[in-house]
Amino acid sequence: MTNRVTVIGSLNVDTILEIPRLPKPGETLAMGDQSFAGGGKGSNQGIAAGRAGADTHFIGKIGDDANGKFMVKSMTDSGINVDQVTVTKEAKTGQAFILLDKNGQNSILVYGGANQVLSTKDVDNAKDIIANSDFIITQFETPLAVAEAAFKVAKDNNVVTILNPAPAQEAIPASLLAVSDLVVPNETECQTLTGVEITDEASMIKGAEKLHAMGAKGVIITVGSKGAFYHTADGNYGFVDAFKVNAVDTTAAGDTFIGALSSQLKPDLSNLAEAIRFANRASSITVQRMGAHPSIPTLAEIDAAEKAAK
Ligand code: RIB
Repeated sequence: MTNRVTVIGSLNVDTILEIPRLPKPGETLAMGDQSFAGGGKGSNQGIAAGRAGADTHFIGKIGDDANGKFMVKSMTDSGINVDQVTVTKEAKTGQAFILLDKNGQNSILVYGGANQVLSTKDVDNAKDIIANSDFIITQFETPLAVAEAAFKVAKDNNVVTILNPAPAQEAIPASLLAVSDLVVPNETECQTLTGVEITDEASMIKGAEKLHAMGAKGVIITVGSKGAFYHTADGNYGFVDAFKVNAVDTTAAGDTFIGALSSQLKPDLSNLAEAIRFANRASSITVQRMGAHPSIPTLAEIDAAEKAAK
């Protein structure tokens, strides 16, 4: 059965600047190529879910500009329903400036723009879409009040909520975590949320248990190129290794993981390890290609990579 996934979150046009290394303060540095791509944590997760086969709706906000049109086209080209992507005249479409070094590591500056104009009214307008989903996903590039309002609608309608607490943010309301069924931080984000430094399995269990105490039924801690740790409230846990590949650009790897995961997950979270393996395969493809939207794989590509590895 096809999962119905709604993503509420950010849409950014990414400007990718290829640099040899980060410049020092006051230094002028020659850079390599410059390119543009669709991005934003929310839209990357939406594209990843849709390309991996989920019936995907997106709720977000763009400016009345060419970048906004570019983002809508990128989403619709991947079959994402954008009926709830609305236009504001109050701000420009979100942007991100990605400094990508020759090892594939990135540093990102984000202009929130229209993403920060998204409001609880937009959630009200999208109530039916949320209520008819199996999963709803959000992140922290749109206002926290919007995330909480959307998750409350979801919980009232037995829709499973997935929180990606990224980028890391201090002072997250307990009321948001209380309505988050599955929380998917990386190590840094987990530490910010729980105060537990993630160094080994024992610390991951401790971090996960703290998140369970805050309301999460499931926790997945992503650990970059190593893989992902999962832990459920009933004490089931494990680590799913990542696939070893040569990364050229890690942008959107975490977003691909979450979107692809949501396309396969069962609402009772009973197939977490299997869905994580699929998500690891998807993000292993993303890191081998440049840019956010252009690098996110389709289901056919994920299946082909899986077959090729056998
Ligand atoms: O997670 C990657 C994304 O973060 C980029 O696409 C960029 O837009 C920033 O929001």
